[in-house]
Amino acid sequence: MLYIGVDLGTSAVKLLLMDGSGKILNIVSKEYPLYFPHPGWSEQKPEDWYTQVMAGIKELIQDADKSQVAGISFGGQMHGLVILDENDEVIRPAILWNDGRTTEECDYLNNVIGKDKLSEYTANISFTGFTAPKILWVKNKEPENFARIKKIMLPKDYIAYKLSGVHCTDVSDASGMLVFDVKNRCWSKEMCEICGIKEEQLAKVYESYETVGCVLPEIAAELGIPESCKVVAGAGDNAAAAVGTGTVGDGNCNISLGTSGTIFISSEKFGVDKYNALHAFAHADGHYHLMGCMLSAASCNKWWMDEIIGTKDYAAEQKAIEKLGENHVYFLPYLMGERSPINDPQARGTFIGLTMDSTRADMTQAVLEGVAFALRDSFEVAKALGIKIERTKICGGGAKSPLWKKMIANILNVKVDVIESEEGPALGGAMLAAVANGEFASVEDAAAKIVKIVDTVEPEPALVEKYEARYQQFKQIYPACKELFQKIQ
Ligand code: XUL
Repeated sequence: MLYIGVDLGTSAVKLLLMDGSGKILNIVSKEYPLYFPHPGWSEQKPEDWYTQVMAGIKELIQDADKSQVAGISFGGQMHGLVILDENDEVIRPAILWNDGRTTEECDYLNNVIGKDKLSEYTANISFTGFTAPKILWVKNKEPENFARIKKIMLPKDYIAYKLSGVHCTDVSDASGMLVFDVKNRCWSKEMCEICGIKEEQLAKVYESYETVGCVLPEIAAELGIPESCKVVAGAGDNAAAAVGTGTVGDGNCNISLGTSGTIFISSEKFGVDKYNALHAFAHADGHYHLMGCMLSAASCNKWWMDEIIGTKDYAAEQKAIEKLGENHVYFLPYLMGERSPINDPQARGTFIGLTMDSTRADMTQAVLEGVAFALRDSFEVAKALGIKIERTKICGGGAKSPLWKKMIANILNVKVDVIESEEGPALGGAMLAAVANGEFASVEDAAAKIVKIVDTVEPEPALVEKYEARYQQFKQIYPACKELFQKIQ
């Protein structure tokens, strides 16, 4: 049998075809536009996602035996607000995970409703990218749109709905809405009331490896696949990436270097971060996880390479970097504000420490190091909670760079396990579809049989020491700039 994993990302959708043994047969990627209608706002059109998913699936399976396609599942960019009216028309563009417009609504939720109550109802506090403050934003700023809302859904769930006709979501993605009682894996009545919505407007919740239905007959006909092909709930992209890297069960770690940068720690038991810096979410394996999310990670390097330096040859730029641990230039990677751990939508990207002899290579190095230092900030919160992490997996576009992996190993002082396929969420999605179809006994069983470690990047004591000194300096830059960032908005 064949399984399709759909990774609905921010810059593109990546589609992966896998057979029942876990072998990857094909990968296709299709881009769509991202809109920034105001500074700090970030939107996409759900219709663009659907068009590109359908085009991508057709290309993905064009040379395969289509009669064997038995399941489709997802990893999707989290937190995005998609709203449909009574005719199933999209009411307004989706407001994405890295959108910072909801400062007022977050203040209301965190300070008027109160962090303690939010944490009691959902296990989390409000961050600008989460879905509940966006629902409140539409209610406050676009009441005519709010009045038309029939269905509220997350990005990947819009695709599942178009393919199956079922208004569904999964526990991991629902966790990022701040309307979900993470511990008990159900919608929070209190949060629905606070947001002014009814539970009927929300989707039916599934575990990530559960089947929600089959593809609609017209979809089966258009794609040339059987009507029995299952649509499986899937997961938020980070939980799906964790499945695809084998980060399941208890105490395992995955770092994702995509548009966002995340540290994901799987846990068999439910737990909340008392510092409110890491998110406490449900995992796609049936358990839980903690996660720190930075809003700009590989996207900082992409911005620096594509927009500023003007090159596509990332490897050549990185080849010019020679003095690891000795750079005098620092970079704060807050190009879209920042979520974990500083929770400051007004934070901004900054180079600091430039001199007349600073080179282009020093600045490129500072960008890569700045992302790794900022990841370490979340890592430090996990350590403060008593979580011991000695090794991590890594995935996402940034994980293709050997230099970046080396920086991460030495800045975090952890072993970085390199896996055979860095396709994280798309592979995780295909694995969830295979589990739902009975190819594997559980998500953990699928991970144990499919994910293979091919190399480990070990931290080097001398370099760890150099980077420790630099991290202590990096840590002082944001507090020194914080007030200024507010003034220069
Ligand atoms: C996680 C988050 C991001 C998006 C990126 O909380 O906001 O990682 O899921 O797609």
